[in-house]
Amino acid sequence: MQIMNTAVSFLGVKFKNPVVLASGILGVTAASLKRCIDLGAGGVTIKSLSLQPRTGHHNPTMAGYEHFFINAVGLSNPGVTEGIKEIKKFKKLTRAPIIGSVFAGTVEEFGEVTEQICKAPIDLLEIDISCPNVGDEFGCPFAYSIEAAVAITKEVKRRSGGMPISMKLSPNAWNIGAIAAACEQAGADAITAVNTAAGMTIDVDFQVPVLSNKFGGVSGPALKPIALKSVWDVKQSVKRAPIIATGGVTTGEDAIEMMLVGGTLVGVGSAVFWRGPKVFGTIVKEMEQYMKRKRVTKLSSIIGKAQRV
Ligand SMILES: Cc1cc2nc3c(=O)[nH]c(=O)nc-3n(C[C@H](O)[C@H](O)[C@H](O)COP(=O)(O)O)c2cc1C
Repeated sequence: MQIMNTAVSFLGVKFKNPVVLASGILGVTAASLKRCIDLGAGGVTIKSLSLQPRTGHHNPTMAGYEHFFINAVGLSNPGVTEGIKEIKKFKKLTRAPIIGSVFAGTVEEFGEVTEQICKAPIDLLEIDISCPNVGDEFGCPFAYSIEAAVAITKEVKRRSGGMPISMKLSPNAWNIGAIAAACEQAGADAITAVNTAAGMTIDVDFQVPVLSNKFGGVSGPALKPIALKSVWDVKQSVKRAPIIATGGVTTGEDAIEMMLVGGTLVGVGSAVFWRGPKVFGTIVKEMEQYMKRKRVTKLSSIIGKAQRV
């Protein structure tokens, strides 16, 4: 029988497999995050937290289609103080890694919310500078600009007390590679690629945009080729920073593709809506089938392999 090792190490944190719940999909509660671990996820990411609680946008905020999902939830969350309580509860339930996530409207606020969440028992921290759905409030995402991304990276590193930081980037930035490299130079330990892509859908009967916010973030299978190219570009551009490759991963082979272009961890979000919360274990099983077929004994050995052409 072939021995198969699916474990990966990410900035020194051990994950039993690379499949992690992406931010924003199953909220912040310890129980729902722990359930993902029970159902096979290697780790989880909490919904992005802000300094103060937020209600988000009015309904409709989400719509599902055959090949994609669009949302403009508007970063609704209970605020960092409540989020920290759930993180502490999660860590009492399991030793599995948990990735914190924060967002803010200004550089200073990013620093403040980072300082607060870094007191919680998280294993690393993702900085969401790439949400496309809050333009009315914050203008265009910080992840579209090298200067803004660098300023936030420096500030969060200064106030993170040594916590490893992953900057979450946008597939809408044509120069995502250059932005990733600049974040790394500014101190980022890792890169998460990618957040949703800006988009919209129209209700032809009512002749209006479907979402109350008009625009939203596109996720799911339609995002995958865009995410793969983004991860490829990031991998080409950074020196050492490992990547949390996210966007449209629905099957084990999708996750393998993400690792082949350079992902060490693979984020899974919208697939939960299509395949249910058991999707984490299912994807891992499908990855193991690939390992068997291709005689791969260590999953980590395929990271970035498609780049060697
Ligand atoms: C309903 C919903 C809410 C999301 N909320 C967040 C969030 O709070 N913070 C964040 O960084 N990303 C958020 N995302 C983006 C996901 O983490 C992920 O990057 C994106 O959906 C692409 O992955 P997927 O195709 O597997 O869903 C959200 C996505 C969806 C669908």
